[in-house]
Amino acid sequence: MHYDPRLRNHNLRHDPLTALVVPRPIGWISTISPAGVVNLAPYSFFNAVAANPPFVMFASAGRKHSQRNAEASGEFVTNLTVWDLREEMNITSADVGEEVSEPELAKLAMAPSVAVKPPRVARTPVAFECKYLKTVDLPGPDGKPHPFSIVIGEVVSIFIDDAAIVDGRVDLSAARPIARLGYLDEYAVVDTVFRMKRPG
Ligand SMILES: Cc1cc2nc3c(=O)[nH]c(=O)nc-3n(C[C@H](O)[C@H](O)[C@H](O)COP(=O)(O)O)c2cc1C
Repeated sequence: MHYDPRLRNHNLRHDPLTALVVPRPIGWISTISPAGVVNLAPYSFFNAVAANPPFVMFASAGRKHSQRNAEASGEFVTNLTVWDLREEMNITSADVGEEVSEPELAKLAMAPSVAVKPPRVARTPVAFECKYLKTVDLPGPDGKPHPFSIVIGEVVSIFIDDAAIVDGRVDLSAARPIARLGYLDEYAVVDTVFRMKRPG
């Protein structure tokens, strides 16, 4: 089949879009609000988009707290989500007021960052400390604004749990990163690795 995503004429019961880009890494974004509240929320429209120096992006459907805090403070941290933290990650996706600190809601200890004020999730094996660069607004249908904006940050400091470093390589197979699949409640666990040599 072919369909026009602007018309959404797929004739399927559920919009298939998010089931078509899989698996999507989950950026678990910590920020600090102007009132000093630590905010934490998962974003699966998320990825690293450049290396040396690295940049990351997450896309927000509406100006949610993470976007607003990143813009206002100029900083955010992305935490890697793993199997053991899946329930806590889910709890932090709750739509709560900006005065509510999701790490407290999920009973999650946070640890100080090195180069930015927002803390990282203490039990995450990997965290990127980021300086906010810019927000890119997208064009919507019929000239209307798109609900999503892309928030871009430069990674200025990286935390790796020493336990994840084996023989000089990062090995996250024991930590079992989780990723998002289609629809609202489907996830994958990254626990199978295969290698393939590039030609040339
Ligand atoms: C696994 C997962 C991935 C999510 N990805 C996104 C996303 O990419 N963009 C978005 O706007 N909301 C996403 N959400 C929903 C937000 O986490 C949710 O709206 C949250 O309340 C936003 O919190 P904040 O206002 O503190 O930033 C996702 C939720 C889950 C559970």
